[in-house]
Amino acid sequence: METSGKKVFLRVDINVPLDPSTHEILDDTRIKAISTTLKQLEDARVILGSHQSRPGKDDFTSLEPHAEVLRKYCGQKVRWIDDVLGPHARQEIGKVQPGQVLVLDNLRFCSEENIDDRPDKLVKTHLVKRLASLFDLYINDAFATAHRSQPTITGLTELLPSAAGRLMEKELGAVSTLLLEPKRPCVYVLGGAKVEDKVPVIEHILARDKADRILLGGVPAKLFLRASDVKVPFDATEISNYELFLERARKLVKSYRDRIVVPVDLAYEERGKRTDHAVDVAPSTDTALDVGKRTIEKYSKIIDGAATVVANGPLGVFERNGFDWGTKSILESIANVKGYTVIGGGHLVGLATIHGIESQFSHVSTAGGAMLSLLAGQSLPGVDALVRAAARTRGSANDS
Ligand code: 3PG
Ligand code: MG
Repeated sequence: METSGKKVFLRVDINVPLDPSTHEILDDTRIKAISTTLKQLEDARVILGSHQSRPGKDDFTSLEPHAEVLRKYCGQKVRWIDDVLGPHARQEIGKVQPGQVLVLDNLRFCSEENIDDRPDKLVKTHLVKRLASLFDLYINDAFATAHRSQPTITGLTELLPSAAGRLMEKELGAVSTLLLEPKRPCVYVLGGAKVEDKVPVIEHILARDKADRILLGGVPAKLFLRASDVKVPFDATEISNYELFLERARKLVKSYRDRIVVPVDLAYEERGKRTDHAVDVAPSTDTALDVGKRTIEKYSKIIDGAATVVANGPLGVFERNGFDWGTKSILESIANVKGYTVIGGGHLVGLATIHGIESQFSHVSTAGGAMLSLLAGQSLPGVDALVRAAARTRGSANDS
């Protein structure tokens, strides 16, 4: 796509973790990750849009600090305005020159951006109609938001000539590698708090024979232990739709007993200290906070022998002192694997960055939910919209 001199709306996802009291940016991985696309747009007039968190949350803030960090990572002159679509924003968008980047404020300050609906409904929003009239091109580099169908993710795509950004391209390439012909043995490490986004991934990759071992941690480990008739304690509020997911986990355990690997021991807090116990001897009704030492050894051995490793979600409550062993050790084991390694999800990526080992993975995804949706065999509305736009462009090229 020819972008030189064009007025481009660049949708990115620079929704980042912020310090709860100072709102200082804690991890700028997502900001750094869009620099390749910005470099390629150095002769264009770029207007950059992103969201930060959601209405009602403490980190639902302005993008001013994000623009400040962006200056470090791109060669263009970067400006930020405290407006999304009002007269001030429209006036400033009109003034952007080639080689300049204008960062609009948090798109979700505009209430319509929070609507998740079909693209044909979204094109009728004021947000899409007004924005579309101001631009020549739309570029979507927001892979981490591509599982949403929101105005600036799927609406603008319907009205403007559109393309995927370089980060979007790279992220989709990584998932294709995993879903087409991953080098074997292929090992998944799935933890975190949510079972609803991990169970569909396990079902899909095992049904398509794309994984040899799935090592479980976090809340998914507790669900699958229970599905294997080990009564580990868990907090009923940890799993929504428990009965439904327990049934799905039981079916998986029955069909793929050798591929699904659950912890052999778990770590609990007793009198303020970490203690490790075999999975069938919980010290109390309190829920476990990490996988145990024997599990870490067992998982590390399996990871050492892998040619492909994919990890999403921490193995324990790593923020609590003494309960980060599982997550840290497994990350280190994955970092030492010579094969193809992918980590995703804010917690794991943040931890890898803090420990300075992020460059030791083949691919560090900027996404959590979007990547899991793809691995679960679902399509992403943001990507589908780009595919439709590409077909339109090809159609008009053939007509002329
Ligand atoms: C995320 O971090 O999950 C993405 O930025 C998408 O945000 P959302 O989950 O609030 O839609
Ligand atoms: Mg999310």
